[in-house]
Amino acid sequence: MEYTAILVKRDAAEKIAVVTVNRPEKLNALNLTVLKELNAAFDELEADPEIRAIVMTGAGARAFIAGADIAELNALPDPVHGAYHGKLGQQLCFKIERLRQPVIVAINGYALGGGLELAMAGDIRLAADTARLGQPEINLGIIPGFGGTQRLPRLVGKGIAKLMIFGGDPITAEEGLRIGLVDRVVPQAQLAEEARKLAAQLAKKAPLALAAAKAAINGGLETDLDRGCELEAAQFGLLFSTADKAEGTKAFLEKRPANFTGA
Ligand code: COA
Repeated sequence: MEYTAILVKRDAAEKIAVVTVNRPEKLNALNLTVLKELNAAFDELEADPEIRAIVMTGAGARAFIAGADIAELNALPDPVHGAYHGKLGQQLCFKIERLRQPVIVAINGYALGGGLELAMAGDIRLAADTARLGQPEINLGIIPGFGGTQRLPRLVGKGIAKLMIFGGDPITAEEGLRIGLVDRVVPQAQLAEEARKLAAQLAKKAPLALAAAKAAINGGLETDLDRGCELEAAQFGLLFSTADKAEGTKAFLEKRPANFTGA
């Protein structure tokens, strides 16, 4: 598919793809076109057996994504259209969260509103030391609508989530690291390379095992320990049907690196 508001670059040698929201003049704000194109791009990448890890980032040096497009929000005429807009963003977040491949989010600047919500749906968040993260919707007379009221407290706890959502003020990348919203902070100039490097490392792992680990962790956090462990056992057991399990264990015994095929 041809995209107009995002870029999708595949690196066949490393088996990774980089998805970039490309509206730097609007700080990569999420308009309907971006939301629809991101939905289509993640569908396309999930179906591509040659892609084993994905980086999501924003174009330019200022913003990852500065939120939903406020001009579009301003033009939404009624609750029905408002709810549809929110659902579209929520569906995209679920898609990223449930994607079989790991999604590394490279937060290269402002991650505000819907930008932070998309980032929270990813698996691992790397932030530039210059990044700012926040849920400023309260200042527009609304609340987060792409899952932010749900994922933020799950990541940082109820009190800090309320401070951020009630107060609307952005926090620094370092503060994000301290509260568990960001997993690693790197100098701005090194962010893109660090994200690619991590994606390439993960792309060498067994893809079905990565998908199983993602499903077990994400699914388990939404249930109790007993059911979470049942989920883990089911995923663990399934992997014993894979060629990659045979290869991984055999390679260890033969003292050589494993060559995982995703089968
Ligand atoms: N939606 C639509 N346009 C946006 C936008 C958004 N969420 N965020 C930034 N832009 C646009 C600005 O309108 C401006 O466009 P213009 O040059 O045509 O006027 C351009 O991006 C640059 O932004 P600007 O505000 O001039 O940059 P700044 O450095 O002064 O401020 C921010 C940066 C991020 C602090 C500021 O843009 C901001 O507060 N953005 C909105 C954040 C927000 O509330 N997000 C949640 C939305 S639900």
